[in-house]
Amino acid sequence: MSEHRFIKACRREETDCTPVWFMRQAGRYLHEYMAVRADHSFLEISRSPELTKEVTLQPLRAFDLDAAIIFADIMTPFEGIDIDFDIEAGAGPVITEPVQTLADLERMKPFDASKVDFLFEAIGQVVAELDGQAPLIGFAGAPFTLACYLIQGRSSREFGKARHIMYTQPELWDGVMTRLSSMVVEYLERQVQAGVAAVQVFDSWVGLLSPYDYKTKVAPYMKGIFDALAGTGVPRIHFGTGTTGLLELMRDAGADVIGLDWRISLDEGWRRVGYDRAVQGNLDPVLLLSDMETVKTQMQRILDEAAGRPGHIFNLGHGIIRTTPREHVAELAKAVHEASKR
Ligand code: CP3
Repeated sequence: MSEHRFIKACRREETDCTPVWFMRQAGRYLHEYMAVRADHSFLEISRSPELTKEVTLQPLRAFDLDAAIIFADIMTPFEGIDIDFDIEAGAGPVITEPVQTLADLERMKPFDASKVDFLFEAIGQVVAELDGQAPLIGFAGAPFTLACYLIQGRSSREFGKARHIMYTQPELWDGVMTRLSSMVVEYLERQVQAGVAAVQVFDSWVGLLSPYDYKTKVAPYMKGIFDALAGTGVPRIHFGTGTTGLLELMRDAGADVIGLDWRISLDEGWRRVGYDRAVQGNLDPVLLLSDMETVKTQMQRILDEAAGRPGHIFNLGHGIIRTTPREHVAELAKAVHEASKR
């Protein structure tokens, strides 16, 4: 796997062209995913290794991609700490009983990996079927983004209740973040043992925070996670959105690859992260709803900003939107490879 261009780019080694994959590359914009969803709920798919393998591989069969990402949700490991949740159509994740008091902390059990064995089994099956053709990325939500859902109970624009607890109840916040951090480490270590070739930690909502609060209330946990994962030997990717004010602090947390969203130019983002790290990004996912000429102009602009430096992985700045035409995804993946040939 270390010879694959995605892994090489994570390590900032020279590649024949820029590797590309897309966050949320599996899912509802694909008719073949909708065909599986017609008979199974999201949770049924994710609890079945066979169905998980199928939907994980769908985008790899359809497009010229350099990595697969295991199909699951950031909520999946909650099954291993006895936190009950559902994924509601339209609303996303819903926590049955949100964690909002010190007493509630007791309901978060130490992570029992055997309760998510279905995921590790699915990873083994996907890796076997890929047979070295492409690396498989494992992932977890970051403790801040997970805490947003765990405390708030459901999606929110501001996650005000979660942030209020972060500001006013340090003991509760530390309890939640400590438990989630050890869950994330063990969950990702087990994914590596099952066969993933890289891991990504999604801190999707961390852009809600000021640099001061990120530094004091989130960064220490992130550093702990990336330090612990260094021992796995696989590349570690750290992703967030709205992170223009946080990039140096994210870099200091220690991952090998830093995700950039479209609110910052790739060249400025990379300069601030430092050229001793790889970067991943950063096309606005909404652009994929435009005509392909517009998409390719912006793709070229991003490649120009990367300037052929080793260590750029092309991706969107956030996940693929449900109404994205699949031909655009196909064409963009191909165009990245063609336009970046060294
Ligand atoms: O990238 C991939 O192809 C792997 C699959 C994946 C899913 N969720 C499947 C999913 C990944 C990497 C995630 C991560 C995830 N989940 C994040 C972090 C990344 C991001 O996008 O910010 C977050 C914040 C979640 C929480 C979540 N789960 C939301 C907000 C939703 C609703 C999304 C929507 O489009 O309605 C989910 C449900 C979910 N997770 C779906 C999928 C395919 C839709 C479920 C369905 O109805 O089929």
